[in-house]
Amino acid sequence: MAGGGSLKRKGNRGKRPARAACYLQQFKVSYRYPVCFTRGVFAPSNDALAEALARSPETPRRMLVYVDDGVAAAQPQLIPFLEAYLAGRPGLCELVRPPESVPGGERTKNGWNVVQSIMATIGQSHLDRHSFVLAVGGGSVLDMVGFAASLVHRGIRLIRVPTTVLAQCDAGVGVKTGMDEHGMKNFAGTFAPPFAVLVDFDLLRTLEPKYWTGGIAEAFKVALIKDARLFSYLCRNAGRLAARDEAAIEHVVERTALLHLEHIRRGGDPFEFGSARPLDFGHWAAHKLEVLSHYRLGHGQAVSIGIALDSCYAAAKGFLTPAQRDQAIEAMAAIGLPVWDDLLEADAGEGLPAILKGLEEFREHLGGVLTITLPRGIGAKVEVHDVDLAAMRACIGQLRRMAAPA
Ligand SMILES: NC(=O)c1ccc[n+]([C@@H]2O[C@H](COP(=O)([O-])OP(=O)(O)OC[C@H]3O[C@@H](n4cnc5c(N)ncnc54)[C@H](O)[C@@H]3O)[C@@H](O)[C@H]2O)c1
Ligand SMILES: [Zn+2]
Repeated sequence: MAGGGSLKRKGNRGKRPARAACYLQQFKVSYRYPVCFTRGVFAPSNDALAEALARSPETPRRMLVYVDDGVAAAQPQLIPFLEAYLAGRPGLCELVRPPESVPGGERTKNGWNVVQSIMATIGQSHLDRHSFVLAVGGGSVLDMVGFAASLVHRGIRLIRVPTTVLAQCDAGVGVKTGMDEHGMKNFAGTFAPPFAVLVDFDLLRTLEPKYWTGGIAEAFKVALIKDARLFSYLCRNAGRLAARDEAAIEHVVERTALLHLEHIRRGGDPFEFGSARPLDFGHWAAHKLEVLSHYRLGHGQAVSIGIALDSCYAAAKGFLTPAQRDQAIEAMAAIGLPVWDDLLEADAGEGLPAILKGLEEFREHLGGVLTITLPRGIGAKVEVHDVDLAAMRACIGQLRRMAAPA
């Protein structure tokens, strides 16, 4: 929705202008989208999807559905339930084709075939900018389908149903899409706020352990720099979270999602025009580790290692006490998150750890001056623009000794 704007003529009125004219075009656009936390999202009595679609008064509401193939395999009832849901609410929307499975996991962000196929299908199905794409899946599928949807006609409405812990607390609720290219994570992507997000905790039950714990790394990330209470909850409930306690994970997912939403809403830079990106604490190393490991390390696991490393660095620079550093690393490890990988010591030649190249790649991705966010105590942050490479290398050695004692 467009807000008020202005058009100001710049320059020295009355004086002979150096050039014909220069106007400062300025306007604001405000976004609004619901993020619903629910269970049984496609149960006949659940109104969340119907209410999300009904935000668009025009009918018919035409829709395409894409489902992560990992979810479709683990929950074969999901697509039939969705079809029955829509059949039971005639007039709600017109499903222009049967729901389609797309490859799940990071591989879906590597390569353009599926993106092109989705774009072609949107075109062949004659969806317009008031039509819908419903994406059900992990962060990778939401990033890929969202990317495709954001391109056609410069943006088809996207409804996301995130199905991993990470997607429910982070990737699925935000405003970004992304594809991996040129050996870099999220090299290509768009800022494209969704039309609605429906978080269904029931969908998490079939997750592999790696993807159950992986999302909790994003909770540690945001807790360490923004929410001491959440950090304390994570540490106190590490055992419950490791044991897949549903009440504990629901609390963590909802609180973490709300912190991400609050940052986007109130952080003053939802589309990341500046150089800082606080919610990428731990991510400079994480993104590099994902690529170095050829995606053996999932995003959440890589983030956990990145947080462990930057927590060591924060302690080395006096921003965390050694006890705070140890508490964070030990709690992540207790939940089953990795805090070390031998790739941290992989050599890039000339005796330089390959991981350190991630700093410049991270800067280039964000633009501007290098800005790394670190915790300053628990629940607050500090931004640093210089990284002491010798100290960082010492932290790598320290982390190895802490996490993988000989
Ligand atoms: N756009 C953003 O703002 C943003 C933010 C954070 C992360 N991300 C991206 O998200 C991606 C990671 O997403 P992820 O951690 O959700 O993992 P993922 O999407 O890569 O999925 C991991 C695996 O779990 C399977 N799966 C998904 N849901 C399942 C379920 N309910 N039951 C069984 N299997 C299921 C998938 O098929 C896949 O094999 C990364 O590419 C990361 O860069 C994006
Ligand atoms: Zn992340």
